Amino acid sequence: MGEYETVTLTPTKGGITQACTLLSNGDLVSFPTETVYGLGADARNDRAVAKIFSAKGRPQFNPLIVHVASTEAAHMYGEFNPWADRLASVFWPGPMTLVLPVRSDSGLAPMVMAGLPTVALRVPEHPVARRIITAFDGPIAAPSANPSGRTSPTTAQHVLDGLSGRIAAVVDGGPCPVGLESTIVAFDPDPILLRPGGVPTEIIERALGVPLKTPILDGSPTAPGQLASHYAPLGRVRLNAKSADQGETHLGFGSIQGDINLSVSGDLVEAAANLFGALHELDRQKAMEIAVAPIPERGLGRAINDRLRRAAAPRNAP
Ligand code: TXA
Ligand code: MG
Repeated sequence: MGEYETVTLTPTKGGITQACTLLSNGDLVSFPTETVYGLGADARNDRAVAKIFSAKGRPQFNPLIVHVASTEAAHMYGEFNPWADRLASVFWPGPMTLVLPVRSDSGLAPMVMAGLPTVALRVPEHPVARRIITAFDGPIAAPSANPSGRTSPTTAQHVLDGLSGRIAAVVDGGPCPVGLESTIVAFDPDPILLRPGGVPTEIIERALGVPLKTPILDGSPTAPGQLASHYAPLGRVRLNAKSADQGETHLGFGSIQGDINLSVSGDLVEAAANLFGALHELDRQKAMEIAVAPIPERGLGRAINDRLRRAAAPRNAP
């Protein structure tokens, strides 16, 4: 059950056109890559991206990988460095994800980066993924297409087992050849292995001519998922505020209007889609005292509150 009658599409011209129409409408479409099936949304549409977290039942907003058709396209979204150029030229298209500073003119929905200043980019090799991304002619944000806490899907049936009724469609391209997620590399500026995956570490090191650093050995807090907790607005945050005190900027929800409202209609998917944009806007306004209206602790409200609680946690003065 769920709000969708999930359709299974074939990787034919008609099926791919239908997949692109759904993506353009802000709907979720699962598609095969060489690693695992991804749960795709238009990476420029915050509301579509918010639906990913809702469909997966993710308790937190993790940053997502943006899938593009070519290295040239990837340059529209990330700031490359010579190490990244080298990895892209050797391993793209393929099971390799590069985490790079996001370009200020990327046009990506802030929710894709979960508020981080970096974006994860990948050019997949699977012919069906490539045809969808090329036909869509835009960036597709996609985590693995499994409910949160479950195993990544490597067939369309796995996707349906976990997400039927929660997504618009799955494009059935048969089993994924790699079956293991992509290798993720970030830069500090030297290359760091954030997640081992489809491209073996030794092969990457041979291509670079230097060993990859690992976040754990270096003691730096850059493991995937951990990074996400580092974003907070500049100002001090007070939660469950039905009204603002003198000097506070009020982040509203539903009938509590506030100065910036996450969703006037009290829609949690819309509120999630607006969250990171609103936090950036508060920084832009140099809001140093922020009061946040109560957000219901259900559905995406849990993830919103998780993020807001982190933002409100005591920290060192800026
Ligand atoms: O093979 C794959 O990578 C598959 C297919 C669909 O492309 N995708 C996948 O996505 O495994 P997901 O969401 O399950 O894992 C993406 C990982 C997460 O651990 C996330 O924290 C990390 O990438 N990530 C994304 N953006 C990041 C960023 N800016 N900095 C650090 N880690 C990031
Ligand atoms: Mg995953």
